Amino acid sequence: MTESTIGVFVGSVREGRAGEQVRDWIVEAAKERDIEYRVIDLVDHVLPLMSAAIPPAAANKTYDDEHVTRFSQAIDECDGFLFVTPEYNHSVPGPMKNAFDSLGGEWVGKPVAFVSYGAEGGVRAVEAWRPAVANLYMPQARAQIALRLATDFGDNGLEPEAHQGEQLTKTLDELEKLVGNH
Ligand SMILES: Cc1cc2nc3c(=O)[nH]c(=O)nc-3n(C[C@H](O)[C@H](O)[C@H](O)COP(=O)(O)O)c2cc1C
Repeated sequence: MTESTIGVFVGSVREGRAGEQVRDWIVEAAKERDIEYRVIDLVDHVLPLMSAAIPPAAANKTYDDEHVTRFSQAIDECDGFLFVTPEYNHSVPGPMKNAFDSLGGEWVGKPVAFVSYGAEGGVRAVEAWRPAVANLYMPQARAQIALRLATDFGDNGLEPEAHQGEQLTKTLDELEKLVGNH
């Protein structure tokens, strides 16, 4: 076990969200890995809309709001991230983007990979995330997982096709390599 920690940042907060099942699938797979994966679920961080006078990139990880401070500490403790993102209106989910925008240096330079889901696998959300994380100098894994609502979810919820498990392994391999080189 290496000492690095990868945060599994779960970005949907809806009641009955599919994100919970995606999160649990990742947590199960992560048990086999040689590195710590730690869930940071946005439902556990009720953040205000980003309205601070000082832009987070200039805030030196210091915030007035106690919820933002707690979120800052959780993100700061991680060396890299797996973003678990649904696609809302062909883009990123608003609450997740608000959380991302609420911090600055806690993200900077840390590698990130993506697991998305939606009708088309949520790929448009990931395409929207990529320039956002690049702005904070976050190296990105090229490999990604795109879970399709029609084929990877069944009557009992998430039932990923076999190739998705292989793709998850490939993506985590790439992310861990980026974190190791970081
Ligand atoms: C506000 C909203 C917008 C959505 N827009 C899209 C979309 O543009 N493309 C898509 O594939 N699915 C879209 N969906 C469907 C979601 O992919 C689906 O509801 C998914 O389960 C959402 O993730 P969650 O349950 O974890 O919140 C949308 C859902 C919501 C709530």
